[in-house]
Amino acid sequence: PSAFDLIIVGAGFYGATIAERAAELGKRVLVLDRRPHIGGNAYSENESETGIEVHKYGAHLFHTPNEAVWNYLNRFTSFTDYKHRVYTSLRGQVYSMPINLGTICQFFGRQMSPDDARRLVAEQAAEMADRIPSNLEEKAISLIGRPLYEAFIRGYTAKQWQTDPRDLPEYIITRLPVRYNFDNRYFNDRFEGLPVDGYTAIFEKMLSSPNISVALKTDYFALRDTIPKTIPVVYTGAIDRFFDFSHGELGWRTIDFETEVLHTGDFQGTAVMNYADESIPFTRILEFRHFNPERDYQTDKTVVVKEYSRSASKLDEPYYPINTPSDKEKYLKYKQMSENEGNVFFGGRLGTYRYLDMHQAIGAALKSFESEIAPRLKAQQE
Ligand code: FAD
Ligand code: NA
Repeated sequence: PSAFDLIIVGAGFYGATIAERAAELGKRVLVLDRRPHIGGNAYSENESETGIEVHKYGAHLFHTPNEAVWNYLNRFTSFTDYKHRVYTSLRGQVYSMPINLGTICQFFGRQMSPDDARRLVAEQAAEMADRIPSNLEEKAISLIGRPLYEAFIRGYTAKQWQTDPRDLPEYIITRLPVRYNFDNRYFNDRFEGLPVDGYTAIFEKMLSSPNISVALKTDYFALRDTIPKTIPVVYTGAIDRFFDFSHGELGWRTIDFETEVLHTGDFQGTAVMNYADESIPFTRILEFRHFNPERDYQTDKTVVVKEYSRSASKLDEPYYPINTPSDKEKYLKYKQMSENEGNVFFGGRLGTYRYLDMHQAIGAALKSFESEIAPRLKAQQE
């Protein structure tokens, strides 16, 4: 480790962005990841029987309103013109998501104008009148009324949290988007698409500089004591682990993925089908071939992945921060401790206990590089 100017823990988007920028400055960078591959949670691989690209840690859709991030990433990949859309299966029928005028007309069984639909939803939400919602169910009813809540939110939320929504805190949802038009594009961002050559190729390019060395299957904590204190470290692993869980573990939800190859060219006609019925145990089915309609995948087989959501134990992959008030308190304590680690920069979703979309992780890395890391690296020369 002493041969390097910078050590980066984690080869996901946050770590890879810092590595790429530092290498550009002529710095020698060592990137460690304990997994056997680069890419972090955005890693994808071609399923062996079909060659279909599968995002190993859940479907990853790239979208951003941030032109600087978009231009930066376009140095390492081109993007397809894929636009994400999501459907939901409910009681043997299929509706488009997020809830839009099409969903509402279909669900209530009649044509409505935007104003008709607004009026109807407002009437149904009035059930809560001026009462202050005391749980997630009441909060959702106050936002969209009971019928839409019971159809599209209750079962799905119960499965996501494995908890009755009446027992979930109301602060989990602040808004439930309803679109009073027929637009069913999932994302509103100006830039959207999927990487033409897949996600992993982006990371191969970002890390291709001869100034960058990558050590996989390498846990930082196995090496920590051999790293001279003078070398700056960018740490994108879990912040509670860094401090030996001294204030307790931060809560996360995880997802179990069940992957199958089916002998049909098209199982569900779209990439993502949510399942709103509580009686169906999974939350959604992904069919990966639909992310890349431009590729000529074989037409007699398809890869589908069922997702099951639950809270994570220490051994599971942490995916979504739970962020209870007690988690928030713990995180603040860890964050204070991290401020005393002068030579360690905490970043990324695990290092800051925050859900970050890919563009946010890249944007945060570019910012932190400019403001803190580049100045530190330049000071090393003197
Ligand atoms: P990560 O990608 O998690 O990388 C951190 C890396 O650090 C990991 O590879 C880990 O192995 C490594 N590491 C941790 N501890 C150590 C250690 N002690 N030693 C060595 N290495 C270590 N974003 C979108 O924009 N669109 C989406 O559609 C989308 N879908 C998602 C779906 C799911 C299920 C999840 C969980 C996330 C999704 N995201 C999506 C978010 C996206 O995955 C993150 O934005 C991105 O992974 C953040 O990058 P990162 O570098 O911060 O973290
Ligand atoms: Na290299």
